[in-house]
Amino acid sequence: MDAESYQPSEEHQMLREAIRALADEKIAPRAAEADETEEFPWEVYKDLVASDFHAVHVPEEYGGAGADALAAVIVIEEVARACASSSLIPAVNKLGTVPLLLSASEEIKQHYLPPVARGEAMFSYALSEPEAGSDAASMKTRAVKDGDHYVLNGTKMWITNAGVSEYYTVMAVTEPSAGARGISAFVVEKSDEGVSFGAKEKKLGIKGSPTRQVILENVRIPEWRMIGAPGTGFKTALATLDHTRVTIAAQALGIAQGALDYAIGYVKERKQFGKPIAEFQGLQFMIADMAMKLEAARQLTYAAAAKSEAAMHGATVKDLTFFSSAAKCAASDAAMEITTDAVQLLGGYGYTREYPVERMMRDAKITQIYEGTNQIQRMVMARQLLK
Ligand code: CAA
Repeated sequence: MDAESYQPSEEHQMLREAIRALADEKIAPRAAEADETEEFPWEVYKDLVASDFHAVHVPEEYGGAGADALAAVIVIEEVARACASSSLIPAVNKLGTVPLLLSASEEIKQHYLPPVARGEAMFSYALSEPEAGSDAASMKTRAVKDGDHYVLNGTKMWITNAGVSEYYTVMAVTEPSAGARGISAFVVEKSDEGVSFGAKEKKLGIKGSPTRQVILENVRIPEWRMIGAPGTGFKTALATLDHTRVTIAAQALGIAQGALDYAIGYVKERKQFGKPIAEFQGLQFMIADMAMKLEAARQLTYAAAAKSEAAMHGATVKDLTFFSSAAKCAASDAAMEITTDAVQLLGGYGYTREYPVERMMRDAKITQIYEGTNQIQRMVMARQLLK
């Protein structure tokens, strides 16, 4: 695949069939439970690992499946169609490890990527802090050099899969006077002394995926765990998001597809005024609009995935930043509209937990917020266009 050809190949179609079969059989039946109990779906994780769908992007040289960016999108899409919380397993494994793929030493990659590929460890990404959300460069977490070690102190917030992940890419300030150029990236392990986690956030959606603070108190780590050179951590963090905002777009597409598919099935069965409600033109127009918005967002996402793949292989792709923000923004806005309309199409039933569309509507909301709010995405796009 290259930046000019982003249509799924025959292999991509076969991959979609395989992951959809797994999602229908093993993931969808557990989605309501993960939402209701707010427990991480370990059984789903095991099933994803058994089929090698938990971190498909890890290159073959590190023991992974070596799937391209579009394949990763398809896996995340199909898992999210069944369960948005579970789709954060492949998505966050990618988010945590792209900083390594982009910037880390061979030593770090050889050490940390194989356990992820084998399904023995998950990998989260820790950029945000309580006072540094959209303005990520204003972070306060400090990493101070001490001999051949760094000592980290600070609190990272909104960390997806915190506590269940073994490894964390943590951005911290090494040179306070240098602003964004004084931030460095590190690998921190859950078992490092001084690492602890905040209480699970009580969220509107994606309840099966824990979101917690990662608290760092005098965490002493060897200097070889710095990702890239000192002061390059913020660039690595933003370059990572250029690749992974595409995966959030994929998650949004999957949630929206799940809601659309469910609503289509429902309107063909549900009878009012003596006929299936699918025969009413007002509802037909809603269904048509939902599918149109979804397909437009999907094409943009696949184009962004092609650019991500080319950039990952060293090509200069000047518009990757624009495309990844555009895809994330378009797909998440579409998902919010589509899931809201799906609830509408099911009427009172759609508003209850007896049916999955209200969960999908709640899950869709986060895709407009994380990995940069859609206001930040619009700012990023405008900066690219105006510079
Ligand atoms: N790739 C590489 N480098 C980049 C870059 C990119 N896409 N964009 C900017 N940079 C570089 C700039 O060139 C600059 O470096 P130099 O000074 O050497 O030129 C440096 O980064 C700082 O750039 P800016 O001055 O543009 O930075 P800024 O402070 O104005 O912020 C921002 C830019 C776009 C607003 C950024 O802060 C941002 O994206 N904010 C949103 C944060 C975000 O997405 N957080 C989500 C966290 S992940 C998550 O949600 C958790 C989860 O678990 C799911």
